Amino acid sequence: MNRAVLFLHSYWAYLVVLIVFLATINALIGVFTKKPYGAKDFRISLFALICTHLQLLIGLVLFFVSDKIVWFSENVDMSLVMKNKMMRLYNVEHPLLMIIAVILITMGYSKHKKKLSSAPKFKTLAIYYTLALAAILYMIPWSIWI
Ligand code: HEM
Repeated sequence: MNRAVLFLHSYWAYLVVLIVFLATINALIGVFTKKPYGAKDFRISLFALICTHLQLLIGLVLFFVSDKIVWFSENVDMSLVMKNKMMRLYNVEHPLLMIIAVILITMGYSKHKKKLSSAPKFKTLAIYYTLALAAILYMIPWSIWI
């Protein structure tokens, strides 16, 4: 179970990084070129939302089955967990910041939908998706992932 969920989480992450990157670049291009917002722009931002939400669900399952997560083990000294870089990353930093990234994408997506013209739509997406992308890239455990 643990290995299957980790496998899924690990490979789905490639899609998440790729699509959030493309959606962010697309929004930034929209801001700088002042092009009209179209169906393609809507689809790419929606696809980024769906992919990250699915990764959030897989991540939540992984949180309960991974042997790197010690929250549910008995006799665990959390001060020792916080002092260990890898343990702190998996138990606290990675889940927390990734959840914040998904919230940013959700906020950016829903706020941009309420804007009526192209420029504010692209601007909203660009701000929220760039912040989310930065959080995702920062919290990926690169050394053991690739
Ligand atoms: C956009 C969201 C996320 C991305 C891109 C992402 C990406 C990754 C990557 C690349 C790994 C390393 C996989 C490997 O070792 O091959 C990983 C591990 C892990 N992630 Fe995420 N993650 C995300 C969200 C979450 C969330 C929301 C949680 C929990 C609530 C979570 C929990 C974990 C755990 C527990 C591990 C370590 C699993 C283990 O090695 O046993 N992730 N994640």
